[in-house]
Amino acid sequence: MVVLGIESSCDETAAAVVVDGAKILSSVVASQVSTHEKYGGVVPELASREHLRKIVPVVDEACRRAGVGVQEVEAIAVTEGPGLIGSLLVGLVYGKALALSLGKPLVGVNHLEGHIHAVLLENQSADGLASSGTVQEAQLPAVTLVVSGGHTSLFLVAATAVGAPTAPRRPALQSFNYRRLGQTRDDAAGEAFDKVAKLLALGYPGGPVIDGLARHGNPEAVDFGRIRMKGNPLDFSFSGLKTAVLYRVRGTSLATEAEQRREWRKGAAREVVRDHLPDQCSQETLDLVASFQKAAVQDLVERTLAAADACRVDSIFVSGGVACNTLLRERFTEAAQSRRLRVYFPSPALSTDNAAMIAAAGYYKLAAGERAGVSLTAHASLPLGDGGP
Ligand code: KG4
Ligand code: ZN
Repeated sequence: MVVLGIESSCDETAAAVVVDGAKILSSVVASQVSTHEKYGGVVPELASREHLRKIVPVVDEACRRAGVGVQEVEAIAVTEGPGLIGSLLVGLVYGKALALSLGKPLVGVNHLEGHIHAVLLENQSADGLASSGTVQEAQLPAVTLVVSGGHTSLFLVAATAVGAPTAPRRPALQSFNYRRLGQTRDDAAGEAFDKVAKLLALGYPGGPVIDGLARHGNPEAVDFGRIRMKGNPLDFSFSGLKTAVLYRVRGTSLATEAEQRREWRKGAAREVVRDHLPDQCSQETLDLVASFQKAAVQDLVERTLAAADACRVDSIFVSGGVACNTLLRERFTEAAQSRRLRVYFPSPALSTDNAAMIAAAGYYKLAAGERAGVSLTAHASLPLGDGGP
């Protein structure tokens, strides 16, 4: 089944063509970084306008790169939430209109389910062939950490095979279920990276910038202590850590340095900023970001391992933009080796927002007969799965 996926929940306009939830024929992502970077965060109204500008060319480009005419698309999967409502509506209404005008089936996909499917999709398309594996290779049930700019959540993901494989080299149909184990009570982890980077005038998005700068700093320089949670130990909270960084900066020479950096950035070309940012940071700033990153990563890894213990599973999936973080990948890989766990990450391109993951998640719903009607609409908040505190 050739599925066109459409994703517009935040600040990336994305479309992809994926066959049988496994083989990526194309995946196009139009980033809005240049629109939002001067604000140090996503401005919802500007995001919607950018989606409006880009949705048609991005879908066309995805079909062109896949070598598939829009008529040959067999079904459409579109993100229905959670996300920025104005942004979501652009992709959703376009997907709905396309499905109606072409007479093709349509399905709505939860963005978080998409991030989970990014891991399964990567696993299946590791050598570029849809047929190379099955979702079982990614070892379900698994505890999944979805960690991005908008979300930090833990799920227990399980699947049951529905019927036999539809063809010899194709995976059997799966029915997935999700149990919520915990989530952030305030900021998402990626949001904390972005806000710390904004405070220190390091650039946007903050995650990749801090990831790069932290290599020059001492992660032991500042002891932020453990993040303590009352109640559910599998919940997260990053606003305290962010505020602890703020208190270390406000009214000190670090704040003056950040102001000078802000001015320098305004006059410097993008490549100059990229290559010379570490030279514009004192050792104290570099140590602070390295220590912040260490504290955030340690918390993410420890709670995810605790969830795997509690659920008695030996597979962990990590997905979402923050899954690109170098230290996070290192720490999870070390933990996996010492505890005999398997940890799966999507490649960076499938970790951040994309539409291939939406097409993949949508495929299983479509194959199971799920269809959305004209009443499909966007939801700013849309929980995934059952349970949870
Ligand atoms: O999944 P994503 O593209 O969009 C959301 O659903 O939010 O994630 C974007 C987030 C941003 O907060 C960005 O700073 C963070 O992922 N991020 C990283 C890294 N790369 C992206 N955070 C830490 N380290 C990275 N290397
Ligand atoms: Zn996302």
